[in-house]
Amino acid sequence: MSELTTFFATCAPGLEPILHKEIQDLRMAKVERQVGGVRFSGKTIDMQRANLWLRTAGRVLMRIARYEAHGSDGLYDGAKEVAWENWLKPGATLRVDSQTRDSDLDHSRFIEQRIKDAIVDRVTDLGWSRPNVVGEEADLRVHAHLFKDRVTLSLDSSGAALRKRGWRVAQGRAPLAETMAAAMVLHSGWDGRSPLVDPFCGSGTLLIEAALWATQTAPGSFERTFGFQSWADYEPKLWKRLLDEARAQVKPLGKAPILGYDSSSQRITEARANLENAGFADKIVLAKGDATNFEAKRGWNAHILTNPPYGVRVGDEQQMVPLYMGFAKHLREVGAGYHLTLLTQPTLVASLGMPQLAQIPVRNGAIDCTLLKGDL
Ligand SMILES: C[S@@+](CC[C@H](N)C(=O)[O-])C[C@H]1O[C@@H](n2cnc3c(N)ncnc32)[C@H](O)[C@@H]1O
Repeated sequence: MSELTTFFATCAPGLEPILHKEIQDLRMAKVERQVGGVRFSGKTIDMQRANLWLRTAGRVLMRIARYEAHGSDGLYDGAKEVAWENWLKPGATLRVDSQTRDSDLDHSRFIEQRIKDAIVDRVTDLGWSRPNVVGEEADLRVHAHLFKDRVTLSLDSSGAALRKRGWRVAQGRAPLAETMAAAMVLHSGWDGRSPLVDPFCGSGTLLIEAALWATQTAPGSFERTFGFQSWADYEPKLWKRLLDEARAQVKPLGKAPILGYDSSSQRITEARANLENAGFADKIVLAKGDATNFEAKRGWNAHILTNPPYGVRVGDEQQMVPLYMGFAKHLREVGAGYHLTLLTQPTLVASLGMPQLAQIPVRNGAIDCTLLKGDL
């Protein structure tokens, strides 16, 4: 890849500005915010750096072809022209996903099948045996995007979603995605040196992502593999160099406390297992406690970073109102001067009674949420 390639880092809707800043900070070229992600340009090393360092991206897609396709044969012909052998290894497995909008071809399954046919025909023409088409764990994951009959083919350089960092051993009950937790840390403005508290810590996601950021630990530097490692052009030496550099520059955590509370002992046990695996067991303090009266020191310049429960089923939210009111009351009593960053459902925002907080809408998995931030 001597010329620059176009990449698209995906993210949860609402997080685009945060991801945009992350990619700019990595000094990528031609960084452009889009809906649902950020486009940038770079070389192989940049694709590897993006997978290693981006905290809020879902996946990093590498664009390999763009063409007009009117009809099924046009789709097939364009896909067959792509030099798949540059990335697909003989004997490797394959998976194709697609999205289509405002196009003649409007049936995803059919689009995926035609592209698979083109790839299989291309490599069997080269004398290879047929690649196996599989589900989740394919060696080469292809994304096809059709918009107004224009096809964009990309390879998923991440493989497993980037939120699967490799530190999580315990799920908890409704764990926040690591990427969303990291976005909250970046959005909060926490400096890594003042006290940080998650009074509804669950499995510890926010605490761990905060500590990863504060220690400048690359989120991709745990034990996991990436899609690009199964490609024919994979450069393991380059990846090893990037990983070694990242691991060598990790900083120690500051002296200010990082604390997590949860009313469930089961969650605290799970958070402890995760902290241990992430290497922060002796640095972050966990305790069983109620968010409506957790221990907090007056005059601390603390950041509260949290994701309170919002009820599992639609309609359950209202049962949470007393908890939100109690939590907000406690914060008002002990937390003058504290900073708060909180993720919840829009219907629960009013029960905090904190109109001074700035709100941005974000999509958290399948749920529309509001990310709140401000001073107490
Ligand atoms: C949405 S979950 C938080 C998930 C967490 N961010 C994670 O990544 O695992 C909300 C948590 O609040 C806890 N919780 C519920 N009521 C509480 C209370 N009154 N005080 C403290 N924790 C409470 C639940 O046990 C649950 O773990």
